[in-house]
Amino acid sequence: MGRALMLLLSLLWTLACIPASWGLQCIRCESSASCREEECAPGHDLCRTTVLRVWEEEELEVVERGCAHPEKTNRTLSYRTDSQIISLTENVCAGNLCNRPRPVGRGPVVPLGRYLECSSCTSADKSCERGREQTLQCRSPREQCLELVTHHSLEGSLSDENHIRGCGILPGCPGPTGFHNNHTFHYLQCCNSTKCNRGPVLELEQLPPNGFQCYSCEGNSTHGCSSNKTSLIHCQGPMDQCLEATGTKELQNPSYTVRGCATASWCQGSHVADTFRMTQVIVSCCSGSGCNRPVPDGQFHSGGASQPGSAYLSLTMTLLMTARLWGDIPLWI
Ligand SMILES: *[C@@H]1O[C@H](CO)[C@@H](O)[C@H](O)[C@H]1NC(C)=O
Ligand SMILES: *[C@@H]1O[C@H](CO)[C@@H](O)[C@H](O)[C@H]1NC(C)=O
Ligand SMILES: *[C@@H]1O[C@H](CO)[C@@H](O)[C@H](O)[C@H]1NC(C)=O
Ligand SMILES: *[C@@H]1O[C@H](CO)[C@@H](O)[C@H](O)[C@H]1NC(C)=O
Ligand SMILES: *[C@@H]1O[C@H](CO)[C@@H](O)[C@H](O)[C@H]1NC(C)=O
Repeated sequence: MGRALMLLLSLLWTLACIPASWGLQCIRCESSASCREEECAPGHDLCRTTVLRVWEEEELEVVERGCAHPEKTNRTLSYRTDSQIISLTENVCAGNLCNRPRPVGRGPVVPLGRYLECSSCTSADKSCERGREQTLQCRSPREQCLELVTHHSLEGSLSDENHIRGCGILPGCPGPTGFHNNHTFHYLQCCNSTKCNRGPVLELEQLPPNGFQCYSCEGNSTHGCSSNKTSLIHCQGPMDQCLEATGTKELQNPSYTVRGCATASWCQGSHVADTFRMTQVIVSCCSGSGCNRPVPDGQFHSGGASQPGSAYLSLTMTLLMTARLWGDIPLWI
């Protein structure tokens, strides 16, 4: 093979790689309507298709498409609330415009069956707290029964205290996988036998201290993670690693930091990215009390934290909760 051919091949290879650094292109559609091509922000290396279905008397479907951070994986979640069944599916793909809508009626037909039977409830209708026994049949053989807890009480965020039980495939299964600090508690547990997710809902207080202590804070170096807002907390349950994560919050605010106690599985970036809607996240974990101690002065010097904008206020309660669980999809109807 000639030298010229080698050169040509390597040039082609280089060209093939360049568009990634220019920014991926994805289809962007909000609320099933008006789609356009969008250039993804740096650090968003995947395209996503997110489908929300609500079954009541009839079926409502909302499809969103857009860019996604590289830690995103395919996922599903279904649960009952009031007389509805809510189902969310998100698929990601890599490659320009790979989330282009397929013509209706074409493409692989996904067989929907009846598989595992799970307990199902949600805090949106108080059915979890009231211990109402409802069940849901999983529609895909890969889905497991889930228990999800999401508490977030940071000042300025909408107060919510959420439990969801149902079917799904989420990163972190089978778990338990979780994180807690002074403001936040996230927990996910999955199991795969009939109604294995029933019983009293899980609260942080029920998890015994595990003997470790970690620093806790959320925010930037002047708001939320200043030295007077950073304190040592007692770690509970399986959350025995000290976590520190820094990244960009909601695209405009670099140097947003989160500290707290975590399971080892939270030390990969994807949970932090999804839960705190952060991108370009650097997560580090350590084992040993107080080992995520803030480095004094000068480590963080730009950016800031912002609360979700008014768009979030227009979400219905259920979608709000789901969006928070799901990471960066602002779904609204
Ligand atoms: C995610 O879903 C897409 C579309 O269904 C599929 O093509 C892809 O292989 C899935 N990826 C993984 C890692 O399962
Ligand atoms: C069910 O869960 C157990 C424990 O997590 C796991 O070992 C097993 O492989 C799972 N079985 C299936 C069919 O997913
Ligand atoms: C806490 O620290 C911030 C930033 O350093 C400062 O503005 C604020 O006054 C301090 N608050 C108290 C109560 O010391
Ligand atoms: C965090 O929680 C601990 C224990 O409840 C409390 O002593 C501490 O003041 C809290 N710190 C902040 C910054 O809220
Ligand atoms: C920290 O965040 C607050 C808002 O939450 C912002 O007003 C402030 O400017 C930010 N500070 C820095 C150093 O970025």
